[in-house]
Amino acid sequence: MSDIGILKNVNVIIDKKNIQFIGKKIPRNLKFKKEIDCSSNVVIPGFIDSHTHFAFAGSREKEYEMKISGLTYQEIAKSGGGIISTVSAVRKSTFQSLYNLAEKRLKYFFINGTTTIEGKSGYGLDFDNEIKILKVYNKLNGDNKFGIDIIPTFLGAHSYPKDISKKKYLEKIIFEMIPYVATHKLAKFNDVFCEKGYFDCDETDLILSVGVKFGLIGKLHTDQFHSIGGVGIALKNKAISVDHLEVLKSKDITKLSEYNSKKKYCIATLLPGVSYFLNIPYQPARELINKNVPIALATDYNPGSCNTENLQIIMSLASLKLKMSAEEIINAVTFNAACALNLQDKIGSIETGKQADLLVMDLPDYRELIYNFGVNRIVNVIKKGNIFDVNKIIKSL
Ligand code: NIG
Ligand code: FE
Repeated sequence: MSDIGILKNVNVIIDKKNIQFIGKKIPRNLKFKKEIDCSSNVVIPGFIDSHTHFAFAGSREKEYEMKISGLTYQEIAKSGGGIISTVSAVRKSTFQSLYNLAEKRLKYFFINGTTTIEGKSGYGLDFDNEIKILKVYNKLNGDNKFGIDIIPTFLGAHSYPKDISKKKYLEKIIFEMIPYVATHKLAKFNDVFCEKGYFDCDETDLILSVGVKFGLIGKLHTDQFHSIGGVGIALKNKAISVDHLEVLKSKDITKLSEYNSKKKYCIATLLPGVSYFLNIPYQPARELINKNVPIALATDYNPGSCNTENLQIIMSLASLKLKMSAEEIINAVTFNAACALNLQDKIGSIETGKQADLLVMDLPDYRELIYNFGVNRIVNVIKKGNIFDVNKIIKSL
């Protein structure tokens, strides 16, 4: 995690969508049409936000005020707020209005450097609305004007809806939703909120294992408020990542460490923006890194527990609060985040043959990306070889 393989004074040649050549001397036969002088810039891979919930409707600023006046996330949820309040807004929203809301948010992710984004369902909690959200992500993936790659995750098990029994809803997830989502290729991953008051370990195990049978790779929201055994269930089902981990116990760090020492991996996706926004504990990044557990960092952008599209703020928190080094942080939002989406062969590093997703930054040294905070120093975002001027996008907002 501490090696970022810095190259100095090299040329990067892009052919259409991909990186064709990296090196000091450009071979004579390589022709190119356009040149950007980055000699006083830092160029790094596009950021990958591997955990978000960006297709939602409504807003929870009232709940935000309740939170500031002292109520906890759980108290707000009990008083009718929380996930369920966003569910009502999503159910009322048409496909097109949900699409428009999500599309607008993509711009804010993009100008802050996110070139690939995972997006979860989980605010529908019935067949039609869960599918509606996943279809929004799928359509946006092909249609968005920046070419941002959008990776959808099915999170039907985000909470229980109020209108049917728990047992019925579980049956709907495993007998109707997962089979439909998988056969129509609407999602790549299957996620569950494993937490007291949401899905317990047995329910989580069932949902993840049915997903695996249908070819959906598991991911897990776990150890956010209570440590109830989610990590063990995730590993049992070969989940690609365990996310949140605010209250992770050492015994589970050991489990993750042992698992990652074999020829498999499970990424610990840390979301320090949630700790900041909800005023809950920060994740034990140093203990994880000391035990060789690979870490990704993500925003968890959603209306309840972290309302920012800006991964750079998360990077600053990872430094100041999780005590991660600049190199570890850069790996955690590029290559390791690509691994958390099983896309490491295509994105996440600057290598020949990989997709040309690059950020050109107005910084003399990559370490300033972390040291300088709250300001966007990205000049150009290059996505699939297309060069975007960040200032022009901002002017058009
Ligand atoms: O990742 N933890 C569960 N789900 C979201 C929060 C969702 C919400 O409050 O709307 C999260 O933090
Ligand atoms: Fe989340």
